[in-house]
Amino acid sequence: MCGIVGYLGEKNSKEILLGGLKELEYRGYDSAGIAVLQDGQFDSFKAIGKLVNLEEKTKDFVTDKFSIGIGHTRWATHGKPTELNAHPHLGSESYVVHNGIIENYAELKKELIAEGVTFLSQTDTEVIVHQFEKNLKTANSAFDAFKTTISQLEGAYATLLVTKGEEETIFFAKHGSPMLVGINAENEKYFASSDTPLIGHCSDVNYFEDGDFGYVTPDELAIFDVTGVKKEPVFQKLSTNKLSAQKDGFRFFMEKEIYEQSTVIADTLIGRLCDAEVLFDELDPTLFDGINEIKLCACGTSYHSALTATYLFERHAKVKTSIEVASEFRYRDPIMTKDTLFVVISQSGETADTLETLKMAKAAGLKTLVICNVDNSSMVRLADACILTRAGVEKGVASTKAFATQVTVFWMMSLYLAGLKKALPQEEIARQIALLREVPASVKVEDEMHEKIKRLSKRYLHGHGFFFIGRDVFYPLALEGALKLKEISYLHAEGYPSGEMKHGPIALADPELFTIALLPQHLLYEKAKSNVEELSARDSTICAISSIAFDKADDFIPINECKDYMLEFFEMMVVLQVLSLEISVRLGNDVDMPRNLAKSVTVE
Ligand code: M6R
Repeated sequence: MCGIVGYLGEKNSKEILLGGLKELEYRGYDSAGIAVLQDGQFDSFKAIGKLVNLEEKTKDFVTDKFSIGIGHTRWATHGKPTELNAHPHLGSESYVVHNGIIENYAELKKELIAEGVTFLSQTDTEVIVHQFEKNLKTANSAFDAFKTTISQLEGAYATLLVTKGEEETIFFAKHGSPMLVGINAENEKYFASSDTPLIGHCSDVNYFEDGDFGYVTPDELAIFDVTGVKKEPVFQKLSTNKLSAQKDGFRFFMEKEIYEQSTVIADTLIGRLCDAEVLFDELDPTLFDGINEIKLCACGTSYHSALTATYLFERHAKVKTSIEVASEFRYRDPIMTKDTLFVVISQSGETADTLETLKMAKAAGLKTLVICNVDNSSMVRLADACILTRAGVEKGVASTKAFATQVTVFWMMSLYLAGLKKALPQEEIARQIALLREVPASVKVEDEMHEKIKRLSKRYLHGHGFFFIGRDVFYPLALEGALKLKEISYLHAEGYPSGEMKHGPIALADPELFTIALLPQHLLYEKAKSNVEELSARDSTICAISSIAFDKADDFIPINECKDYMLEFFEMMVVLQVLSLEISVRLGNDVDMPRNLAKSVTVE
């Protein structure tokens, strides 16, 4: 996830910018850069990889008088993580940093290229600085040029721009991506995309609202609203607790990560969807030449997302797909044939068992692909090809947004393969792509839903166990719901295919057995419903999750009416995550660091 910092003042701006970027490191990034204007002279540095690389590059650079500076950590979306694609981006005499996405960048870029502008990067961001310099040629002032530029951008952004002609000014604009400005008694101004870089430097901060834009100088903070009317800043005292600032006001990282899912799924989709085609620039389509089977291998939550993929790949792409738990696969002398594409799935890219299976597949000469959240991780380095899930850093041990982005990638990949193999009609691919675009909205946590689950959670703190049940892709979701609950509540929970109840598990049914039933309207509703009725008849306590009211349930958590079962999947996923969270909170457990568990399991 990208991060922005900015500074205006007399202190050592290099140290302040690098220090600010360090505070944003936890969000994840793959390159970083700064630009400083001092004594009418710009200095700019960029480096790929960790901030130490940027620190090394700037070690002889001194800032010891008044200066203005901007900095950025970049999580690659448009274009690979290279120095050229790292921010700040340069025009002729101006630099820009930006978070978010400029949706009309291709259009603007085409016009600028036709007018003779040369682009150095593959990013959407670079259009901002060139558009600004184009406008500057005819504008009355740099601010007018900036204002015009902002009005020409479509999409979501938080951006800072500095230009040589205005040595004491930083221009800013915010629309859809977070940004704040901080002040102090020393007349300094600080910008950042979240609180943490400002802690210890600023006494008061103003959080920009969507549509806000303006500029700062040593003596002025000028903010204009979306209609261009000047407004007063609304200052708030800044918290002094860095950890709580990193949580953006949420009680736990897990909660923050649940709420972040809408944004990170949007990031996962960026640049990968056309009207009737899914694009994975990172994949060479020849990877699938000669492939008759896909074998998925993973652990824990990643295994559950992969299990979802087995349904989607066979249904959409008509490719034979199988799945293995990595810790089993590695010791069972599996038969590996070269017409199999071996796919490992891992949030961290470091899980020992999964990594070992990847090594086995490579040794057997299979083509390999990794679906991963961490660039440069061991699996990413080893596999032949890689799709990054772009969930940003996940801190809660109980995985949430990593799962959500993995399923999103698998859904996209099933359509990509369906296109490649002509296994689905174009119209069906286009229909599902339109649905994919709705996922960010469907995972938004609604206050009403969260409140309801908070209240309901008090009824689920005891009992002798939980069954989570679902059919088809809702079976892996049931497994994932049960795993989430076990991990952070320490209550016994199992996931089952709904149809399996009568083959044994139903023997446990009594009022102290809690059944969390997933009842999607658009997939096998009647079948799943009768399985739940069987449990209800045996007096199991039922909590049904559905868009259709269900009178045999003791409790009912409604989801929004959806157009398709995959959107119901994402809505229910959020309900299950919030339910586990609230049960764990009531039990007084450490939500982010549950007992006996580690975030990255690098031992077998
Ligand atoms: O990093 P990975 O996705 O390879 O990790 C696999 C499992 O260890 C992980 O999903 C684990 O099950 C989580 N704690 C689930 O919340």
